Amino acid sequence: MKKWSGGLLIVVLAMILVFRYSSIVKIEPPTQAPKQSAAEFFGNHPTTNDSVIVDSEKKGEKPYKKSHFVEVDGLDDLFASHDIFKEGLRALLVWPHMRTLLSRSDALPETAKGVKEASVAWKDLLSAIDKDKASKLNKSDNEEDKNCPFSVSTFDKIESRYENILDIPCGLIDDSSISLVGIPNGHSRSFQIQLLGSQLLGESEPPIVLHYNVSLPGDNMTQEPFVVQNTWTHELGWGKEERCPSHRSPSNLKVDGLVLCNEQAVRSSSEESLNVSRPSRDMLTNVSGGAYEGSNFPFVEGNPFTATFWVGLEGFHLTVNGRHETSFACREKLEPWSVSKVRVAGGLDLLSALAKGLPVSEDHDLVVDVEHLRAPPTSKRRLLMLVGVFSTGNNFERRMALRRAWMQYKAVRSGDVAVRFFIGLHKNSQVNIELWREAEAYGDIQLMPFVDYYSLISLKTIAISIFGTKIHPAKYIMKTDDDAFVRIDEVISSLKGKPTKGLLYGLISFESSPDRDKGSKWFIDNREWPYAMYPPWAHGPGYIISRDIAKFIVRSHQEGDLKLFKLEDVAMGIWIQQFKNRGQEVNYVTDDRFYNAGCEANYILAHYQSPRLVLCLWEKLQKEHEAVCCE
Ligand SMILES: *[C@@H]1O[C@H](CO)[C@@H](O)[C@H](O)[C@H]1NC(C)=O
Ligand SMILES: *[C@@H]1O[C@H](CO)[C@@H](O)[C@H](O)[C@H]1NC(C)=O
Ligand SMILES: *[C@@H]1O[C@H](CO)[C@@H](O)[C@H](O)[C@H]1NC(C)=O
Ligand SMILES: *[C@@H]1O[C@H](CO)[C@@H](O)[C@H](O)[C@H]1NC(C)=O
Ligand SMILES: *[C@@H]1O[C@H](CO)[C@@H](O)[C@H](O)[C@H]1NC(C)=O
Ligand SMILES: *[C@@H]1O[C@H](CO)[C@@H](O)[C@H](O)[C@H]1NC(C)=O
Repeated sequence: MKKWSGGLLIVVLAMILVFRYSSIVKIEPPTQAPKQSAAEFFGNHPTTNDSVIVDSEKKGEKPYKKSHFVEVDGLDDLFASHDIFKEGLRALLVWPHMRTLLSRSDALPETAKGVKEASVAWKDLLSAIDKDKASKLNKSDNEEDKNCPFSVSTFDKIESRYENILDIPCGLIDDSSISLVGIPNGHSRSFQIQLLGSQLLGESEPPIVLHYNVSLPGDNMTQEPFVVQNTWTHELGWGKEERCPSHRSPSNLKVDGLVLCNEQAVRSSSEESLNVSRPSRDMLTNVSGGAYEGSNFPFVEGNPFTATFWVGLEGFHLTVNGRHETSFACREKLEPWSVSKVRVAGGLDLLSALAKGLPVSEDHDLVVDVEHLRAPPTSKRRLLMLVGVFSTGNNFERRMALRRAWMQYKAVRSGDVAVRFFIGLHKNSQVNIELWREAEAYGDIQLMPFVDYYSLISLKTIAISIFGTKIHPAKYIMKTDDDAFVRIDEVISSLKGKPTKGLLYGLISFESSPDRDKGSKWFIDNREWPYAMYPPWAHGPGYIISRDIAKFIVRSHQEGDLKLFKLEDVAMGIWIQQFKNRGQEVNYVTDDRFYNAGCEANYILAHYQSPRLVLCLWEKLQKEHEAVCCE
């Protein structure tokens, strides 16, 4: 979510620039919407202008064709476990209200996959829970129990000396890294390093989250060495190859601020960069006399290298011998959390492999202050506010930090404000087991009936609306992320005196446009949004809506009356626009103390805060009674 909102901020900033610019030189804002797709989208009123949403609704027409329901593989299995529901399980409260959302004909594109995979994961989890219960009865043979470890380093040699596998037990998170020390051995001119996801029943091969294929210089040192990065999935096969060096004009695209390819790396001594001073590389001096002698290519036959893949917010990065070489933006559905193995194959002698910075789960039996961290019982009376925190299965540490920090505000401990984590199922069974234990220990987790793909997070937005209206009715509903620090007391006092109806409160973007750049991660095509502009929306790391809006969202979605849209925070803006179009009053209240891009003093909300920073902010508030940042 962080990724999305970070990117959205960039998009928005870019749009602001564009609009500034266009107002100076009097260029009309682009209206790229062909009439037909607009008509398709909102009934039969061709338009390129969003005021028509209002017009068509004033005439009493549905702006949007109702969806119908379709069969979804695995959905029945997922919802068949009645015993679990009967046990009144606290982690599944919204499930019964979400089923129709998942079988809509106009569901978000990855829904079918997310549900199918969740049904498999769920079945595994149920049998693991049963086993867990059995072994608890039988204290003796307990503690085979492996938690998720911080690092792993042994390679199980399998198949042949040309292929090595390292298991990543609980997926990767931000700042996880995998370091490989190896020597290209010349048995083959190329070697491959792959990050693999988990294989689903019926798939021939596991998905490849990142395929990294290194081609060394040709036999006579005449062929240029290169690296190819790509992805592979069972349903789509190979994706679009990214080659480095690309020999294209340098692209402005960056991942986490890093270039896609260090073009310097492959410049040979025969090329124009002759007079660019290069670090002298002693290691390379023994390459015999070819055109690539002295080249900066990081991999050379017979020379050991240390390659480190690390996970950023937006993608994977590779550093070889301390120098950044390549970056690769995560592709849809192929997110770092889903990585379960590293495979190394081809002409490489691997000396060692170490994955560290992995997600660590705590042993909750050993947590001394569990009582102070456990969600307080929700009383019968209406909550003042529900805070829905979007999180992902293996973000154990982030959740623990929030529990020890801003979830300790008096308003939360007293039960006036309830905080719940909304988490999709993970593809890795160990993560799901840890998640289940965590849910039982703290009672603040709501699992989602789908696997946690980014493209499905708008469903969580509906889930928090359901929770805050049907499960534990609340006056306000707040959405935030697990890397945000929320000053609950400030939010509450700021809400006093604000309208209680039709409220959207947060950092609001009033004038923004869809990203029409196909290469962009936030690309939205005309079918998804045909208009030049978005309605006002509040940035995802923290916004608050009033109960009437949440009720409208739940009801309209259940009736199939609202469009699903994959950018969660923009989706909320779109739904609120439609609420307004039905004649309801909407109050947009923007507040720039909701810092979308980090932390600033006197924040109400700070974003991109690591667990360490979250705890530090809390300590500062306790000791200095001041909202100051920690970096
Ligand atoms: C949208 O349409 C309304 C009336 O139909 C018009 O007043 C307004 O100028 C239009 N806006 C744009 C951006 O085209
Ligand atoms: C308990 O342990 C015994 C011996 O190890 C085993 O035979 C039995 O099946 C176990 N019971 C359960 C419920 O796991
Ligand atoms: C890696 O690249 C080499 C050279 O381009 C090619 O021959 C080989 O098939 C590739 N291997 C894989 C597994 O893609
Ligand atoms: C490499 O060298 C061999 C003989 O030394 C020659 O036959 C071959 O054509 C050369 N290949 C290239 C790509 O220059
Ligand atoms: C060498 O560097 C100079 C400036 O430092 C530049 O003008 C020239 O184009 C460079 N030559 C080559 C071959 O890159
Ligand atoms: C250079 O390579 C030769 C054979 O390829 C090897 O015998 C020698 O030890 C190498 N020298 C160094 C300094 O690595």
